[in-house]
Amino acid sequence: MHRIPVDPHDDPAENEAILWAAGGADFEVPGEERHIVHEDDEQMGGVAPSNQQNFNRQNGAPPQDQRRGNQQRQGRGDGGENPVEQEPILDGYDRTDLIGQGAYGVVFRGVRRASGETVAIKRIPFGENNMEGGVPCAVIREISLLRELNHPNVVRLLDVIQAQDQPGGLYLVFEYVAHDLKTYMDSQQASEDPSQRHGLPKETVRSFMRQILEGVCFCHMYRVLHRDLKPHNLLISHDGTQLKLADFGLARLSALPAGLYTHEVVTLWYRAPELLLGAQRYSSAVDVWSIGCIFAEMISGYALFPGRSDIDQLFKIFQRRGTPTSDIWPAVENLPLYNREFPQWQPRLITDFVRVDCQYATDLLEKILRYDPDQRISCRAALEHPYIITAQGQQ
Ligand SMILES: Nc1ncnc2c1ncn2[C@@H]1O[C@H](COP(=O)(O)OP(=O)(O)OP(=O)(O)O)[C@@H](O)[C@H]1O
Ligand SMILES: [Mg+2]
Repeated sequence: MHRIPVDPHDDPAENEAILWAAGGADFEVPGEERHIVHEDDEQMGGVAPSNQQNFNRQNGAPPQDQRRGNQQRQGRGDGGENPVEQEPILDGYDRTDLIGQGAYGVVFRGVRRASGETVAIKRIPFGENNMEGGVPCAVIREISLLRELNHPNVVRLLDVIQAQDQPGGLYLVFEYVAHDLKTYMDSQQASEDPSQRHGLPKETVRSFMRQILEGVCFCHMYRVLHRDLKPHNLLISHDGTQLKLADFGLARLSALPAGLYTHEVVTLWYRAPELLLGAQRYSSAVDVWSIGCIFAEMISGYALFPGRSDIDQLFKIFQRRGTPTSDIWPAVENLPLYNREFPQWQPRLITDFVRVDCQYATDLLEKILRYDPDQRISCRAALEHPYIITAQGQQ
């Protein structure tokens, strides 16, 4: 057992190669984007098979592989057989229980022996195919950068530990935060009837939006993208006031050793249209799109675009925002999965599909959910939008 040496300034040039270029410019996506599905997808309505076939045929793409995680997500409290006992001992920490299992690893609650502080310990199985057992330099550099992300709205990475008897295992120790936004929103429902769901109180939505934007803006300043923003990755303090972003940079970190993950359970619902259309270069705007989806979900209580597959996801967006054309998104026709034969839907008003009665909220959502990533509002600009800066109670 040994600590990973952490020096964020070891090689700025190589750091630059890993992270996106200065000023929010694009960076290359390494390797192919892997298909991802959410376990809740089965409950949702789908797209006609003919559309899916058409999409694949027209693009010459292989049929979409709907691989599902055989590691089912285990939410808080349903830990199953004691998985803690199967884990190696970690120097300085005791693990108490399993609190979650997502695409990038397993999360345990634990205690730091020296201080008695409760922590969350996340196992990142990045090196299961790495027979030498060493941690790739690029991973160390990326984690070093994550350790520098010190902001009240970003969950703190406290420690990084490699278990020597399990070469593939890397453990990230985070500050523990009581809830995540998904379970928090569920806990606010008066009824279990899905048709009775409602959103969060207006001022809570505004406060959470401001905190999400602050945290994401900060990480974008450090040139770190999230790429998997969703309610499960937004942690809420025990009193329901503070929000902290979890898993910043982890999508990128886990993507480094290409091909390791054959079973993925990442949701599509918050994915930006440029990613769904196969963009090989993308920017911080992908996170902004996800924030828009989360914003709408906090307002209404329902996921905005609950797609069941890549093409269903895309068409759910098209049906509401209109099928994109080069008039509103000049680069769209050059994207690898764009198809001139896509069904044509006319754009609808935001208020037709999100029940929002605040003109500022409607305007901000409209600016966040712009198709063209270059025209999508930035986090910094969104923080200056009247919806965020207007005093409580005003619209
Ligand atoms: N720092 C933390 N403090 C408390 N709970 C946490 C912390 N980090 C994660 N969790 C909990 O563990 C759950 C699972 O985390 P994990 O990130 O592995 O999965 P996920 O967020 O559901 O999916 P993904 O892997 O795609 O991010 C989270 O949804 C959250 O409830
Ligand atoms: Mg997560």
